[in-house]
Formats: sequence, C-alpha cells, structure tokens
Amino acid sequence: TDWTRELRYTPYADWPEGYQESLRKSQAASDWRAAYHIQPAGGLLNDPNGFSYFNGQWQLFYQYYPYGPVHGLKSWYQMTSDNLVDWQDQGLALQPDTPYDSHGVYSGSALPVGDKLFLMYTGNVRDVDGDRETYQMGAWLAQDGQIEKIDQVLIHQPQGYTADFRDPQIFRRAGQYWICIGAQTVNREGRVLMYKSDDLLNWEMAGELDLGQADLGYMVECPNLVFIDDQPVLIFCPQGLDQETAAYANIYPNMYIVGRAFDWDKLAFVDPSPMQLVDQGFDLYASQAIQAPDGRVLAVSWLGLPDMPAVTAEEGWAHSLSLVKELTLVDGRLYQRPVDELHVLRQDSSDFSLDLAEGRQSLPSLCAGQEEIQIHLAPGSKGRLELFAAADAEGAVVLAFDLEAGQLTLEQTAAGVRMASDYGYQRALDLPAGQALNLTLYLDHSLLEIFVNGGEETLTTPVYPRSKEAGQTYIQGSGQVSGQVWALRAME
Ligand code: FRU
Repeated sequence: TDWTRELRYTPYADWPEGYQESLRKSQAASDWRAAYHIQPAGGLLNDPNGFSYFNGQWQLFYQYYPYGPVHGLKSWYQMTSDNLVDWQDQGLALQPDTPYDSHGVYSGSALPVGDKLFLMYTGNVRDVDGDRETYQMGAWLAQDGQIEKIDQVLIHQPQGYTADFRDPQIFRRAGQYWICIGAQTVNREGRVLMYKSDDLLNWEMAGELDLGQADLGYMVECPNLVFIDDQPVLIFCPQGLDQETAAYANIYPNMYIVGRAFDWDKLAFVDPSPMQLVDQGFDLYASQAIQAPDGRVLAVSWLGLPDMPAVTAEEGWAHSLSLVKELTLVDGRLYQRPVDELHVLRQDSSDFSLDLAEGRQSLPSLCAGQEEIQIHLAPGSKGRLELFAAADAEGAVVLAFDLEAGQLTLEQTAAGVRMASDYGYQRALDLPAGQALNLTLYLDHSLLEIFVNGGEETLTTPVYPRSKEAGQTYIQGSGQVSGQVWALRAME
C-alpha cells in the first residue's frame, strides 16, 4: 500500500466492509502475537492515553489507527481491567468526528471528577494547505460507558508557540485542576507549559515549567508530572535533544528529571537531577504515569518509537503497550518494577542452579516464549544469555554480562528479524563493578522486558524471532547462576 496523506486521513466509514476484519485475522494468526501484552487487533497502536481508575476499574486507552500499520487518522481505543493484568477490549472511544479533531484525536489523559471521568486530549486538524492546527479538548465518560465530547475548545494555541502543542496531562492540586502540556516555541525549542483551571472549562496559562535545563530539544511530547514521596518527577519525550545534554541511542528518548521539591510559585524543580533515560532498550516511548488512588505511582509505555517502521507492518499491524510498572524513588533515582498484580500470570515454575563453565546450557523451558525468568548471577560472572533461541541457533537477542567490569549489553542478532536501522543493534549500560546481578525478564513471543537489580534500570525491546520454535533461553560463560522460571498464562 502507498500510504499517501489522503489515504491515511480517509474517514473510517469509507473503508470497505470487512477490511478491518482481515487485519484482525492477520494479527490473531501472527507468530509475534503477544499473550499478555496489549496489542492492536490489526492497525497501529501508539501512546497510552487516559490511564486512570474510574467506576471500580482501571481504564486505559491508546492511540489507535485501525486501517494499517501506519500513523493515520487516530482515535482513542479503550481497555478496562480489574487487576492491571487482564484487559478487556471496549472498542473505539474518542473518534475524530468534530471540526476540532478532524485529523486525529491525539494523546491526553483522564481524571475522575464526581461520578464521571474527564478526558482531556489534543484535537489535531490539518487546514486546506495541510498545515497543522491544534486544540485542547475535553469529554466526559459516564458510568454507563457513554462518552460525550465538550463542544468548546478548552485551550487554543498560545502566542509565542507553534501548533506543535499537545498531550495534556491533567491532575488535581489544592482544589484546582492543572495540566502539563508539550510545546514548541516559535524559535523551535521544546517546552513544557502548565495551565490551571477551577472548572475544567476555563484554563489560564500558569507558565513554563522550569526544569533547570535549557535544552529540551526542538519539541517535547507526552510530559507527565508526578510526585513520588513529595518529590516531583517529570517523565517526557524531548525530540531532537542534543547528545551533549544527555546521551541516548534511539531516534527519540523518553527521559526523566527528579527534583528535591517543587516550587509552585515559580513552577520550578528545586535541585533538579540531570536528565536520565527511562529505559535503556530499543523501543520505549510516551510513558504515561499516574498517581493511582491506592497511593502508588504507576506507568505504562508505548513499545514503539515515532518515525520508525515496524517489522510487523507486512502483517498489517504495529506495536504494543508495556506491562504496568510501579515507580518509586531510591536515592533520587527512578526505580521501575512490574506491578505485583502480574504474579497472577504465574503458572508452573522450575528452579535452576548452574555452573556456567559447563558450556552452553538451557534454562528450564516451561512455556516457550511466554515466561517470567528471575536470574541471580554471582559476582565476577561473565558470559551471555541467549533469548528466543533454538537449540541449534543463536538467540534472537543476546544479553551479555561482565560483572567484574560492570557491563550489561543487549544485542539484537540476525537470528531475529530486524529493520535496517541507523540506530544500531546494541544497547549497553554500566553496572556497579564487582557485584552480583539480579535480573527479572518477561518474555512474551515478540516482547522482552528486562528489570535490572530490582528495577534500578530497565531494558525493553521488541524481538522478532525468525521461527516460532525459537523460544528457549541459553546461557554460557563463567561463574554461577541460579534462579526460577515461571510459565505465564495468557491475558484473560
Ligand atoms: C507521540 C505522539 C503525540 C501525539 C500522538 C499522535 O508518540 O506524537 O505527541 O499526541 O503521538 O498519535
């Protein structure tokens, strides 16, 4: 298919009947279909939106283009869950059907207000010349599932900024409503703006968020301001960030900054940390973080990147959402752990304890490609863990460790299908030298989430094994390894 702009913006109703069904079937039959991660039933998924707890359930929406593996006319697609693990499909929620969102219902967030859920999103519009217009819009989701859009613009593009102004994150503070929103100055510099409101309809610009950081690239997407132990944490996507400001290897990074405190008069982070990567892997972006009513700070991310084609495009679908993670701060660093609820996926399990010097050995395999693996490597161990491997072939990804030197390297190998990429096939991170290493791995057919040392770092990547049989885990090297493998059930 030649995905011209016209085709991408073709109204949903103009697609032939049965077309979506053919994409759905193709995704359902894919060897790369995940068992317990959210993927689109055909078409393209991107940012998580509207993550919240409402009506006795977790609500999670995502950016969705139903008719192909490309960024076309976007809607919000709705999922609900009782446990953050098993997600039920609720279908299209917000659709591009007004003059203020005619070319896409773009990313946004949700906040329970009274007995309704307030949804705030960016309406994307292309004018007759194809130029972008942007409108911040709202809608109400009622307990019976009905959605009603508010037919007035809540926030217009402000003076001094371009139409790249989007992705409002709404929260409540001291009796007022606030948003953080991604923006670009007319000089093409990225910014995060803050607005406040008493009634959700009338919004006043409060100012630019001061992160003690001059370089935020040329545009900021998907900012989230959350508070962990009263410390502010901004999780955001600065595009075009200078490598001098912060080193990153993907096309665009998802970054965070932690402050010691937040100055509400100046909208400033007090003693901001340097910018740091949310994830050290290949494909994670647009994380959405929320203060959950149970006191936790939870986050979920898009496992994909803007402006990068998907390996699965030939099957008519693209991308996934991450597992839900709990965020905490330890000594000013962000820790990310899979939520405890995920333990409900655990089925049979098996322990292992191996001397790595005995050659290439397999870890117990209980449910090929659909497992949780906890691994403890003794100090000084050195070697490689091959994931999504067959007995006679290399793994589709290799995790190399050298604990003496304090190095961990994730490499996509030719045993997996890879897109030609200018961004390389290897990601490395430093570990404290000379120490043991604890890893928690979630394998889900075409997805790998790695949690390092209790969530101090994460490495997340899609993996596309060339064969459905390639679901074993092998290890070799020198040193001692022990751990446990669980078969995981599919999402219900
Ligand atoms: C980030 C993003 C957002 C935008 C949405 C459109 O991936 O570009 O800035 O709202 O995707 O789908």
